Amino acid sequence: MSLSKSDSRVALVTGGIGGIGTEICLQLAQVGRRVIAVDLATRSDRIEAFRELTATCHGTIRFEPCDVSDFKACGSLVEHIEHHIGHIDILVNAAGITRDTSLRKMDPQQWHELMRVNLDGVFNTCRHVVEGMTARGFGRIVNLSSVNGQTGQFGQTNYSAAKAGVHGFSMALARETARKGVTVNTVSPGYCDTPMVAAVPEDIRRQIIADIPVGRLGMPADIARAVVFLTADDADYITGANLPVNGGYFMSF
Ligand SMILES: NC(=O)c1ccc[n+]([C@@H]2O[C@H](COP(=O)([O-])OP(=O)(O)OC[C@H]3O[C@@H](n4cnc5c(N)ncnc54)[C@H](O)[C@@H]3O)[C@@H](O)[C@H]2O)c1
Repeated sequence: MSLSKSDSRVALVTGGIGGIGTEICLQLAQVGRRVIAVDLATRSDRIEAFRELTATCHGTIRFEPCDVSDFKACGSLVEHIEHHIGHIDILVNAAGITRDTSLRKMDPQQWHELMRVNLDGVFNTCRHVVEGMTARGFGRIVNLSSVNGQTGQFGQTNYSAAKAGVHGFSMALARETARKGVTVNTVSPGYCDTPMVAAVPEDIRRQIIADIPVGRLGMPADIARAVVFLTADDADYITGANLPVNGGYFMSF
């Protein structure tokens, strides 16, 4: 292990080897965070590619396997990190999956699988870090929601429900931790240039881009910038907020 204890804050990023998660890890490392990317052990090819990509970060980014849908595994992970690296100051929940289909065709497995990752996963990680953060008087939690949680999307009753739930969860936790130096916010990406959106059929993707006022898909770096902003030490007066990063695709007040 090349990381050692120092004053720089420790950030845990779930879904950390994914399209958006990778960029969040890189940008957090750039501002001096010690970063732990957490993702499924089964993604061995992607883990290898991630390790190669982050090798130049001089040991400030490391990978730890964990399935965020497993409550006990999240507890063991947090214990392991706190013992070997340091207290977790920043938690970013970017792990997520889709199981798209219209409700009339959706089976309970497609509903429950998605909930276990996209919503239970947020509970599982937050539950294990929040006590330490409040006890130490500092914490930054950012949960990735989605524009489709704000607007609803055809074929995504499960995803839209989970992502709206993530914001409700974050507002409630923000109230519980507000006087203890811990902020909890969501970032809601619009459509981004990642494998998740590459899986959308070409004609639908073209229509989506035509509907984005900025005229392009979001880049993972656009989302990461918002996460870095909300996790800054001096972002202590922003809590319970949702920061939309969607190129103007959905505007609200
Ligand atoms: N890509 C977009 O356009 C978009 C738009 C809105 C919101 N989002 C949200 O942003 C987040 C990141 O999306 P992305 O585009 O990087 O997706 P991605 O599929 O590239 O990355 C998601 C990562 O989560 C990991 N993951 C899945 N199940 C897991 C589990 N049980 N435990 C641990 N890790 C698990 C995957 O292995 C993957 O690396 C997700 O929460 C997604 O819902 C994405």
